[in-house]
Amino acid sequence: MTKHYTELTGAIGERIQFGAQRHAADAYFHKAAPVVRIAGVAYTLSEISALGFSVLSTETVSAPDGVDSVEVWFEQGDSVLATAEILRPGAAVDGVVECRFFDRAIDLEALAHDNAAAVATMRVLRPRLERSSVPTGYKIFCADLLDSLASYRREIEEELAPFDHALSADERRVLDRELEVAVKANWAEFILRGNALVLPYKNDPEMRKALKRYTENLVTPELCRADLQRRCFEKPMGYPGDFQIMNMFYDHQPVGAGPYERFLYLLGLIAGAPIAGRMRSLTDELSLLANDHPEQDHFHVMSIGSGPAREYTDFFSTGAHLGKGYSLTLVDPESLALDYAIKSIYSSVKTGVSSIMVSGMNTSFTEMLRPGSTFRHLPPQDFIYSAGLTDYLNTKLTRMMVSKLYEHLKPGGTVLIGNVNDSPTGMYWSAEYALDWTMYFRNEQEMREIADGLPGIHELTLDQSGAYWILKLKKPA
Ligand SMILES: C[S@@+](CC[C@H](N)C(=O)[O-])C[C@H]1O[C@@H](n2cnc3c(N)ncnc32)[C@H](O)[C@@H]1O
Repeated sequence: MTKHYTELTGAIGERIQFGAQRHAADAYFHKAAPVVRIAGVAYTLSEISALGFSVLSTETVSAPDGVDSVEVWFEQGDSVLATAEILRPGAAVDGVVECRFFDRAIDLEALAHDNAAAVATMRVLRPRLERSSVPTGYKIFCADLLDSLASYRREIEEELAPFDHALSADERRVLDRELEVAVKANWAEFILRGNALVLPYKNDPEMRKALKRYTENLVTPELCRADLQRRCFEKPMGYPGDFQIMNMFYDHQPVGAGPYERFLYLLGLIAGAPIAGRMRSLTDELSLLANDHPEQDHFHVMSIGSGPAREYTDFFSTGAHLGKGYSLTLVDPESLALDYAIKSIYSSVKTGVSSIMVSGMNTSFTEMLRPGSTFRHLPPQDFIYSAGLTDYLNTKLTRMMVSKLYEHLKPGGTVLIGNVNDSPTGMYWSAEYALDWTMYFRNEQEMREIADGLPGIHELTLDQSGAYWILKLKKPA
């Protein structure tokens, strides 16, 4: 409805004071703001309006004595885009100096245009086609991989896609399972080949960068047509905090616009199968706890970086431990993950289990390292584990965490750390190279360095997938 004149209120409160619109330089000049030279000194432009601008400086902008105005140049590369006069700038406040044009406003749009033209000219002249240092063997591997995906795609789109829309959800699931069986061995071969080609460069940052760039230019865009791989690559919730990605691996239900997208999703699930394998190994460890201590009827268990804590779903829903009680403490700085975990554990518990108590601690493991930390109120624990968190921690921090966890054990208790390894059949190529998912893919020696010198009886084994280390520190009874 058209507004009446008396209903047009204008701004309210402090906004009534109207000034020329100020723009953040980075946004206004598309991350290529001109350099500002004042009295011969170059400054970084922070904000700009038609009436003035601010530059980053912790000191007063120097200007010749005895003059009211100072000359300013806006430069991009070797080009001078504009010159103007400004009033003598005042002192720096919070690392910024405000400058006001002398006696006039400048044409901001013209400045933006000239800047864009100068940037575009510079960029077009910069040589782009560097000689690639990527080994030919790796290029052949990427070409073979893309060729194989293209063949699958043609077949799937010609032979399956026309019928896919007519299928029920259950029928699609059956079809996807068959596709998974059909492609599994072929994809495992590519994973093996990829790992073999990139593992030799694990400690060569330059080559790793070149190989990753090559992979991301060629292979990643095709894989990222699937929701799973796209989410891993784009990381909308950051790196380790995304419990929804964990759930995608645990649910093992490919989704996508069509059968080819679901097929690609399946490739992601096959490559990431060790993640679900690790979770199942944790379920087995929880079962062992009660088997190893038949005399005990209540256990204190803590998970650090619990995420969705899916290892409890099967553990409780199968009712294998009816008659035992568990006090579970889940530690995670991601509140959505804790919320999900607590609800899903309680809903999976079979009636008849004597007592289950789940507490969430919405904090980082670093809270434990603080003197007087809130963790001091917890009772000594039978079993403390952390799966997939040390994958993101350097050795020093991991050792600090493990040694603190050990202090929280009761005699006879166990600390367990699950850490991804650099096995030739593991996730190194598929995570680090195909999806830019960087972790500490530790070898045996690197795992032993975590435990060396720490108390307890140490045990280092592989989990059922072979792609994760299981490090245990047992406290003598
Ligand atoms: C890769 S996930 C593993 C989750 C779970 N353990 C699993 O196996 O499904 C890592 C988890 O560590 C949590 N995390 C990240 N930083 C942490 C920190 N500083 N302290 C404790 N947990 C942290 C993340 O929020 C995430 O849930």
